Amino acid sequence: MQLIDGKLISGQVKQEIAQEVKQIVAAGGKQPHLAVIIVGHDGGSETYVANKEKACGEVGFKSTRLAFEDTITETELLAEIEKLNNNPDIDGFIVQLPLPKHIDEQKIIEAIDYRKDVDGFHPINVGRTSIGLPSFVSATPAGIMELLKRYKVETVGKHCVVIGRSNIVGKPVATLMMQKGTDATVTVCHSRTKNLGEICLQADIIIAAIGVPNFVKAEMVKEGAVVIDVGTTRVPNASTKSGFKLTGDVDFESVAPKCSLITPVPGGVGPMTICSLLKNTLLAGRKEIYG
Ligand code: GUN
Repeated sequence: MQLIDGKLISGQVKQEIAQEVKQIVAAGGKQPHLAVIIVGHDGGSETYVANKEKACGEVGFKSTRLAFEDTITETELLAEIEKLNNNPDIDGFIVQLPLPKHIDEQKIIEAIDYRKDVDGFHPINVGRTSIGLPSFVSATPAGIMELLKRYKVETVGKHCVVIGRSNIVGKPVATLMMQKGTDATVTVCHSRTKNLGEICLQADIIIAAIGVPNFVKAEMVKEGAVVIDVGTTRVPNASTKSGFKLTGDVDFESVAPKCSLITPVPGGVGPMTICSLLKNTLLAGRKEIYG
């Protein structure tokens, strides 16, 4: 069994991006610029946004944080998005989710100019990804694909079982795994699937993104399988400083010995997601996808 080291790979990817930024700037080009909108004071969101800003600094991007109280109205937030859409200095931007209940998230996502949608959440990017056109691919699925590529995981003709059908992980990662060039045979399982354990047992590659801590048990995993754990549930834990333990969807202790490769939580898929956001921002800055 070998661990897939997301921290190591994300460090390498960041170095490559930083190198490219240096070249762009040395050639007189513009420093890529990411803006992040955050609404309210959700602890998780504040940490994620701080990490995104830190990563921008590490690779030589400019970053702008626009923070609003959760009293902001939907109309006011839409106006802020319009300003970013029209600001030529901003190459890409994201609106950190979740948003307060009085704001319609889908309406916000669709208000973002798809050419600046570096989260890849806009239906145009989702649709283009689905039919194999150049697009901004959302961060977690792109991060998973990068890990598989860098660990030279064979995907052609392999059976990949995706557990979970969310719009931001399950569905897009299933799309990418079945794409021409990757060529896996994909089964998507979810909370209503019958015989989920039996289906998983046939998998060469399992991608667990169901959001249930320790859901995947050893008896569901074939000997030699590659297991990608996307779960990041904060489970209360008195022995940690933060009072919780980040827990994956895979029962690591029992599953790991059966795997050829497995991602740990934390330190697997998590660190890759910011890399994907940086990559998309670099592409946006270079006008590589939409000209
Ligand atoms: N909240 C949790 N993950 C994400 C993400 O990837 N993008 C945004 N915008 N919000 C999130």
